[in-house]
Amino acid sequence: MGTWLYILALLVIQCSTVWMCPSNCNCTGSLTTCCAQGADSLSQPLAGNPDTSDTKTLVLDHCGVFILDMSTFENFLPLELLEIRQMIIVYVNSQAFMHLSNLQTLILDNVSLSDAAMHPNAFAGLRANILSLRNNHLCTVTQQTFTDSENLEDIDLSGNQLRFIEDKTFAGLVKLKRLNLTNNRLKTVSLFWFGFSFLKTDFQLVLLGNNLSCECQYRGALYQGNWWFTQAIASNNLTCNWSSATPPCEVPSVATTYKEICTTELLTLSLSCGADGLPKPSVIWFLPNGTQSPPYPPPQPPYHRWLGLQPLSPEALELHPQCLRRFLPFVLQGRSQDLSL
Ligand SMILES: *[C@@H]1O[C@H](CO)[C@@H](O)[C@H](O)[C@H]1NC(C)=O
Ligand SMILES: *[C@@H]1O[C@H](CO)[C@@H](O)[C@H](O)[C@H]1NC(C)=O
Ligand SMILES: *[C@@H]1O[C@H](CO)[C@@H](O)[C@H](O)[C@H]1NC(C)=O
Ligand SMILES: *[C@@H]1O[C@H](CO)[C@@H](O)[C@H](O)[C@H]1NC(C)=O
Ligand SMILES: *[C@@H]1O[C@H](CO)[C@@H](O)[C@H](O)[C@H]1NC(C)=O
Ligand SMILES: *[C@@H]1O[C@H](CO)[C@@H](O)[C@H](O)[C@H]1NC(C)=O
Ligand SMILES: *[C@@H]1O[C@H](CO)[C@@H](O)[C@H](O)[C@H]1NC(C)=O
Repeated sequence: MGTWLYILALLVIQCSTVWMCPSNCNCTGSLTTCCAQGADSLSQPLAGNPDTSDTKTLVLDHCGVFILDMSTFENFLPLELLEIRQMIIVYVNSQAFMHLSNLQTLILDNVSLSDAAMHPNAFAGLRANILSLRNNHLCTVTQQTFTDSENLEDIDLSGNQLRFIEDKTFAGLVKLKRLNLTNNRLKTVSLFWFGFSFLKTDFQLVLLGNNLSCECQYRGALYQGNWWFTQAIASNNLTCNWSSATPPCEVPSVATTYKEICTTELLTLSLSCGADGLPKPSVIWFLPNGTQSPPYPPPQPPYHRWLGLQPLSPEALELHPQCLRRFLPFVLQGRSQDLSL
């Protein structure tokens, strides 16, 4: 009788305090590492127990294909470091990390992240200080990208395909100390990315590995006092010889206004997109399946306007539900505009 009572008591204790390590993961103290041996994918949301989880560091490495949203890590609320690498994230939904209120470091390196695979508000409300999005396929960052992420001190966007950074994208990030834009496709840089009053003594901007053009004066480059900006440009081994005759760079914009196109089912459709700007813009199309066309060659001088034509097969128009409204012409360093397909 005594033995039975003892077993019963043991069961009760175990049921109330058990910490479930998700299958395919190793849980050691505050560290949980998943799929390191290239194991199969994980079920979502990740199994665990929000009340007893003491995982502070979660590493997902080679975990296959993932969609991230607010529920993915709901069993890991105490997380301080989240590192996801060498896998495919097909979509990051709006505010995917907002509820991880202790998060200090978020690393999403080499996870095939592209503009189409990310809600514009994916990082909104992020509490982390450090964000690394190294080695992905991002083309644009906009004011929306870092909304309400004012803890950010260090952003690593190196190894992407960034061509366009919207003015004021980093303006709200009052603690920002370092921005790494190494190995992207930028042609000009602008002080206006940081807002109009961005004066910092300890700010580091890294621009190596961008093919910057000297044909126009970067916007804001002549403002006094932002030595870090001048230094970043110089460290790219670029000494532009601007004279008073050198025109200022111009933010490109899509010249095409809204247009309805009628077509017949199964017929190939041609969409056109004109763009203005300096340096001369080139046009890239994001296709609904998340891929992008190669950039069209820029027009020849003296014209800064050019018509980009993108022939589309009918299959390309089958919209993925999460990519809705992501079908848009994109202009180098310019604004993008939905075609409302
Ligand atoms: C867990 O750790 C053991 C021993 O260190 C290792 O053999 C195993 O592959 C690990 N499993 C995962 C999923 O990382
Ligand atoms: C990126 O991850 C893939 C696996 O998803 C791997 O094959 C590739 O080598 C990785 N690339 C880099 C630069 O780490
Ligand atoms: C910037 O990114 C590059 C490429 O990922 C890396 O080699 C370099 O160390 C980074 N620089 C800083 C200052 O973080
Ligand atoms: C850099 O730009 C120049 C002209 O703007 C071009 O001729 C050159 O091929 C580019 N280099 C790379 C590596 O893209
Ligand atoms: C820039 O030029 C200097 C001198 O020519 C050279 O030592 C340095 O390696 C170059 N840096 C880069 C990033 O190309
Ligand atoms: C800069 O301008 C000077 C004179 O205006 C010229 O001699 C020099 O070659 C120019 N340098 C570059 C890199 O264009
Ligand atoms: C995406 O769609 C385009 C146009 O139909 C097609 O050429 C391309 O192969 C597709 N890519 C993928 C990865 O499905």
